[in-house]
Amino acid sequence: MNGYKYAENIRVAHKDDLVVLASEESKSWVKISKECFKILNIVIEMNLIHSEILKIFELEEDRIYFDNLIQKLYDIDIITDKNYIKAKNIDNIYLVLTDRCNLSCTHCCANASGLNSNDELSTKEIYEIIDKVLKLDPEIITISGGEPLVIDDIWSIMEHLKSKFQGKVNLMTNGLLIDESNIQDIIKYFNNISISLDGIDEESCKIIRGNNVFKNIMKKIELLKANNFNNISTSAVLPNNEKIYQEFEKLNNDLGTEAMIRHFSYKGRAGFNYKKIEKQMNEYLKSRNMEENYILDWKKYIPDDKKYVMPGSCEGCESTLSIASNGDIYPCNLLMDSSYSIGNILEIDNIETYINNISKDSNEGYKTFIDLKQCNNEVCSNCSVKAFCWSCPAECDDLLSRKDIFTERCEQTKERLTSIVWG
Ligand SMILES: C[S@@+](CC[C@H](N)C(=O)[O-])C[C@H]1O[C@@H](n2cnc3c(N)ncnc32)[C@H](O)[C@@H]1O
Ligand code: SF4
Ligand code: SF4
Repeated sequence: MNGYKYAENIRVAHKDDLVVLASEESKSWVKISKECFKILNIVIEMNLIHSEILKIFELEEDRIYFDNLIQKLYDIDIITDKNYIKAKNIDNIYLVLTDRCNLSCTHCCANASGLNSNDELSTKEIYEIIDKVLKLDPEIITISGGEPLVIDDIWSIMEHLKSKFQGKVNLMTNGLLIDESNIQDIIKYFNNISISLDGIDEESCKIIRGNNVFKNIMKKIELLKANNFNNISTSAVLPNNEKIYQEFEKLNNDLGTEAMIRHFSYKGRAGFNYKKIEKQMNEYLKSRNMEENYILDWKKYIPDDKKYVMPGSCEGCESTLSIASNGDIYPCNLLMDSSYSIGNILEIDNIETYINNISKDSNEGYKTFIDLKQCNNEVCSNCSVKAFCWSCPAECDDLLSRKDIFTERCEQTKERLTSIVWG
């Protein structure tokens, strides 16, 4: 028989004589004394089984306390059986097939290139990538880019995928290349289409997407609807005002589409253009007599009640993976920076074994990702609320590059969380 070990996805934070142990899996957390934490570490290190652990306590009350504590930690996935290996279950694959694009959005986090640049992957390599990701038995594959519809061989690629895959295939597109010539292919190969709109009218949309894009997208949605394709969502980074969010919801209701409001990411060229974008968005809000704001509103996400304080749950490398336009594999589509690459799919023979055996001791990109998740960065590593601060590690990575916003967010979050968690 074997003892216990700490589960992989736990977060630990310390303050004074207390320690918080939180589980990403169960979203639950406990606060124990440093003394108990020390004992816990020792009995885990010694590989003691439950009955052996209880024997080390002389006092009945200590025995009862530890009996209950270990049971609780086990129930909320903070400790597991020593031999337990959690299989990865990759349901969601995000496939970036090209970096090329027919638009040049000012906020493009993917830093999409123009149509004249070359794709890194050949069609044959894309087939090979598809064959490999299918070995992971995903439920959903999202086709993205750049703009996937600029790829010459897109319909052969989709045929290759569809002939081998029964799950759902989503398209993430700027929508502009949908027309009469490809509408039947679109219907045949995609289950869902997410069209990026980034506005509620021509004026707001053009800040990010350029002139006449809004009007054109409206026509594309009409065309899809006229052909009975109804699984459409529109996504948007919007001028930061509650009324605009409501108008976006209403627009989608009227269109019969689903609204998806996105956080602004500072990645790619958004990092250079955000001031200009923010200024234009505020000019737009002003022109509509609405309150101006920062481009990103993190304040409303700071919890004000203990019941909302929980460790973030990141699905990166657990149920989701992203493949970049050169075959590099990333934990998710919001973390496609080379430091988080966990390998190149074209160089991996058995992808299933590779993903299931990945560990931070053997894979540098995975280690960087886990360090990010556990807030082991310079600013946060000793913070007493780090277990609860970031719901999405990509947001932390993003804001680490924006020290001004990071600092403001940090000060306010720390104050609020400290009083809830430790007060
Ligand atoms: C990189 S695009 C690729 C697919 C396609 N070209 C499109 O625009 O939908 C994928 C999604 O990322 C979003 N996106 C791009 N830059 C962003 C940013 N700085 N912040 C938030 N979302 C962004 C786009 O609006 C789009 O919904
Ligand atoms: S967000 Fe999409 S449409 Fe806009 S430039 Fe980037 S890849 Fe192209
Ligand atoms: S951002 Fe600030 S409050 Fe949040 S974990 Fe880092 S140091 Fe703590």
